[in-house]
Amino acid sequence: MSNRPPDPASDQVSRPPIEPATAGGAASAADGADGTGASPGDLPSDADVRGVLRGVIDPELGSDIVDLGMVGDVDIAPTGRVTVTVALTTAGCPLRSQLQHDIVARVGSLPGVADVGFHWAEMTAAQRSTAMSKARWNVAQQPEDTSVPVAAKVILIASGKGGVGKSSVTVNLAAALAARGLTVGVLDADIWGFSVPRMLGVAGRLGAETRDGRKQMVPHERRIGAGVVRVVSMGFLVDDEETALMWRGLMLNRGVQHFLQDVRWGDDLDYLLVDMPPGTGDVQMGVAKLLPRSEVVVVTTPALAAQKVAVRAAGMARKSYLRVAGVVENMSAFHCEHGVSYPLFGEGGGEQLARDAGVPLLGVVPLEPSVSAGGDTGVPAVMGDGPAADAFRAIADRIVEEAVPLAAMAGCSARMLDAAVAALDAADA
Ligand SMILES: Nc1ncnc2c1ncn2[C@@H]1O[C@H](COP(=O)(O)OP(=O)(O)O)[C@@H](O)[C@H]1O
Ligand SMILES: [Mg+2]
Repeated sequence: MSNRPPDPASDQVSRPPIEPATAGGAASAADGADGTGASPGDLPSDADVRGVLRGVIDPELGSDIVDLGMVGDVDIAPTGRVTVTVALTTAGCPLRSQLQHDIVARVGSLPGVADVGFHWAEMTAAQRSTAMSKARWNVAQQPEDTSVPVAAKVILIASGKGGVGKSSVTVNLAAALAARGLTVGVLDADIWGFSVPRMLGVAGRLGAETRDGRKQMVPHERRIGAGVVRVVSMGFLVDDEETALMWRGLMLNRGVQHFLQDVRWGDDLDYLLVDMPPGTGDVQMGVAKLLPRSEVVVVTTPALAAQKVAVRAAGMARKSYLRVAGVVENMSAFHCEHGVSYPLFGEGGGEQLARDAGVPLLGVVPLEPSVSAGGDTGVPAVMGDGPAADAFRAIADRIVEEAVPLAAMAGCSARMLDAAVAALDAADA
């Protein structure tokens, strides 16, 4: 299993020849950047590139690649080509393609970046031991940071304004992901419209449990298909509208922090979906600070006016160095059973927003009574049939397969995180 003998022979960074890796394929985030890398004024700075690289987590070591010292030179060519030197802990690690995907997605989403190239290097023994002690330190610190496991993918569902179907998208995607056999957390951070509990048919106060001297909230759990959805909501913390109104600004931010730090999400969590409050920058910044690897899905309606508001949501995400993974258009044309479409709320908003933001349009969900009915009965529409259910399923598939894929941990021979934990345990003993 362990093929990671300390490598005394290579005391310098070996630098293989340049390997061009264009931002194609799954890295569609960079597609929208074509033609924008023309003027040097538009180019990102070295700090911008390193800022977004902080969102790239080495899934094995559980820390970001900048912190681990894996990022070397960053070259920003006037053509918009950004070349990043990445030193891997071990040259043959299959996580390399995962890292490559994440780096292309993050760097490619910066304005002015036309494509992303790589120099792959291998860490020296000394660099590796520094990275290991960093990782150990981070493992030791982790309980204080967040209770969201490092391997879980965090998706913030955001919109410029309320009423566009953010919560409906959140619960239907959660149910669709669970139906695929995944474990999905849902954090309802929208204190003004906390509707997730009703939409998912869970209610009541959260339980608490003390483990290793730490008190943790236990989320409500609901099995869907072969998977499970775990839910916490601001609605579980406040009893009435009036209390909710007192939870403005900082308080709200503190509540979200509480949910990220003190909820027992479980080590098996695959995705955490956060139903964000509309428009509030401070909550987004709070989450970005705690979970810089979060990715944002922006929900908009087809109306072109709504799309302008949603652009702001995407812009805010970028300011916090969060990657926008894509756009979902909701409340698109209603299809009647005679095959006629009625674009009640306009057309083209999702596509326009995706183009403006240079990110993929993940899907289009039609207006359909089953969506609102499902919200009232606690059985998300995606658990049934129909065009809206199909659309939600297809979006969930795209999230798993290309937009926000899970880290492919299986098969990597170097389980360094386990090694770090074992070393810590040994040190404690
Ligand atoms: N695709 C859709 N078809 C029909 N009704 C929808 C659809 N999406 C959302 N709704 C309804 O619109 C209202 C607002 O949706 P909601 O998800 O609560 O929006 P937000 O969370 O953005 O405020 C709800 O009553 C919901 O049931
Ligand atoms: Mg809502």
